[in-house]
Amino acid sequence: MRLGSLELESNLFLSPLAGYTNLPFRLVLRELGGLGLATTDLVNARSLLEKRDKAFKLIETRPADQPLAVQLFGSVPEEMRDAAVFLQSTGIASVDINMGCPVRKVCKVGGGSAMMTELSRTASLVRMMVDAVKIPVTAKMRLGWDDRNITAPELACALEDVGVAAVFVHGRTREQGFGGTVNLEGIRAVVQAVKRIPVIGNGDITTPQAAKQMLEATGCAGISIGRGAFYDPWIFRRTRQYLADESAAERIAEPPFAERIRVMCRHFDLMIEVFGEDLGCRMFRKVAPWYAKRFGPASEFNRHVVRISTAAEFKQVLEGYIRWRQQFLDDKGELHPKFQPAPMVASFMQPAVAERQNIPVPKGPVEVW
Ligand SMILES: Cc1cc2nc3c(=O)[nH]c(=O)nc-3n(C[C@H](O)[C@H](O)[C@H](O)COP(=O)(O)O)c2cc1C
Repeated sequence: MRLGSLELESNLFLSPLAGYTNLPFRLVLRELGGLGLATTDLVNARSLLEKRDKAFKLIETRPADQPLAVQLFGSVPEEMRDAAVFLQSTGIASVDINMGCPVRKVCKVGGGSAMMTELSRTASLVRMMVDAVKIPVTAKMRLGWDDRNITAPELACALEDVGVAAVFVHGRTREQGFGGTVNLEGIRAVVQAVKRIPVIGNGDITTPQAAKQMLEATGCAGISIGRGAFYDPWIFRRTRQYLADESAAERIAEPPFAERIRVMCRHFDLMIEVFGEDLGCRMFRKVAPWYAKRFGPASEFNRHVVRISTAAEFKQVLEGYIRWRQQFLDDKGELHPKFQPAPMVASFMQPAVAERQNIPVPKGPVEVW
């Protein structure tokens, strides 16, 4: 898989998830394998140029966190260009431009989804960035503003002409938010519209089988996974194995409880290391319940973990939970079948579409992403 001059080990990408795709999460995912390119949360280009602490914390990285893309948002061409030049000077592997964010604060100033509605203005902004750096510049978009304005194919073509190395497409419109089904036909239309550049499909990939289905149905060159990595940080490795050998389906089953706990604890330790005990614990309050979604019964865990303030409290909550969970286990120490979490099914996978519930979206200011 290539993005311009950048050669990647796999065609599997981590989607930006504001508030989550920080250094600790990326390191955990990379340790588990299969990931081609990880990205930061979206970073305000102007804040970066003004050297704000918040922006610098978002781009914090380490040698083990390579290759790394930084996602920029903004609408002032000179600021976006200068921010890209700065990122290149720090050794960042590629720069992604946010064209999908539906949040009013971002759109109001002409950034995020608003960029999809102003083709020529957007193309000239992107040209300025591409001309200023050697590293690949990519763009992440939705299918369009709403059903009546599906602009992604046209926008992708315009961006290809000004030199972007790839486009990432979330198969929903801005109006859809996170509801409804991911539109594979819509992603396919983008793949067919561009001449050379890779199109990376995105939306609702929660299993290796769903990744394969999206690749086959759309012809896209790679897959980008966001929320699926919350449930299953092993999804990149599992998907890579599955794509290489479909008969491996049995061997790539979801990991057992003990491995989930090990990885969650590693994530927690890295949060403390990178953000300090107080902030790290507070941030982990919203991360831990995502791991718990695949634990089986977890109400006891969720009730307490959202209050942790120290590493000792986290340890105590976990030990208490592991004792409490024993009542749901059989003689072999496995969850009784009736307590096992239901298999994950992507919105576009037949035949379960009608019955499927949406993947939850974390609460907070980014819930309308
Ligand atoms: C909490 C949250 C934060 C997000 N933050 C960003 C962001 O910073 N930049 C961006 O382009 N997309 C962002 N998105 C959209 C995701 O990158 C992705 O396109 C979307 O979640 C669909 O993919 P998924 O079903 O694999 O999660 C965010 C989504 C969520 C749920």
